[in-house]
Amino acid sequence: MVDETRVHSARRYNYWLGGKDNFAVDRESGEQIAAVFPTIRTTARENRGFLRRAVTHLTQEAGVRQFLDIGTGLPTADNTHEVAQRIAPGSRVVYVDNDPMVLVHARALLTSTPEGRTAYLEADLRDPGKILADPALRDVLDLDQPVALMLIAVLHFIRDTDEAAGLVRTLLDALPSGSYLVLSNGTGDFSDAETRARFEAMAARGQIDAWPRTRDEVRTIAEGLEILEPGIVAVSDWRADDEPQPRPTPAEVSVYGLVARKP
Ligand SMILES: C[S@@+](CC[C@H](N)C(=O)[O-])C[C@H]1O[C@@H](n2cnc3c(N)ncnc32)[C@H](O)[C@@H]1O
Repeated sequence: MVDETRVHSARRYNYWLGGKDNFAVDRESGEQIAAVFPTIRTTARENRGFLRRAVTHLTQEAGVRQFLDIGTGLPTADNTHEVAQRIAPGSRVVYVDNDPMVLVHARALLTSTPEGRTAYLEADLRDPGKILADPALRDVLDLDQPVALMLIAVLHFIRDTDEAAGLVRTLLDALPSGSYLVLSNGTGDFSDAETRARFEAMAARGQIDAWPRTRDEVRTIAEGLEILEPGIVAVSDWRADDEPQPRPTPAEVSVYGLVARKP
């Protein structure tokens, strides 16, 4: 059931990206956050740019042909399978989201090339066992071959870092050596004290549902993995030499990104 009275992160993010698939309650929450963090639209765009560059790298340079994209979001430009299949048409992608509205749009719009495959599961990141056991996932992904686990702007909805790290570990344990983690997560590390204080005030009023992480916390989540160059950086700075210059500042974006390989 799609609930129009409760804010949902997929629709609010769609609003920031300039989409039309959102309700008044999502726009109101989006504007509340924009009042505290005026560059949030830059953040959303840069996060999408990171997704595109990371998937391009993995498909083109690392030979990855399978993706498990949890927290898909509403379809927009350059969705994971489009980026991967442009380079390798046989790429296979399983999308997972817990918002029923995402799944309705995803089924209609995220269609695969004839050579590749896509599937969509309505499931929660907090239940990785259910995701991994789903027959639709097993039908599309061969878990004996490397898979890129994509957790883009979704893990920060899990507040507790130990819990977040545990979920990532459970998912990666099911994937073979040579698999990858692609992660982006909001951070307050680059913000000034005033922005942080305003954010904390919003959190105290219950207006925040995403929890920023420090670089050390992000590193904890990627423990045991080989983090690719340039390491844990603002998403706008991850292999962005070919992007229009000058880049936004890390403070304007305030999202960490990393790509890491399972040894
Ligand atoms: C900010 S959007 C990010 C979309 C996309 N990954 C991107 O980066 O462009 C977050 C998405 O995660 C989904 N989501 C949030 N919490 C989730 C959970 N616990 N399990 C599955 N999906 C979740 C939301 O429905 C939303 O579509």
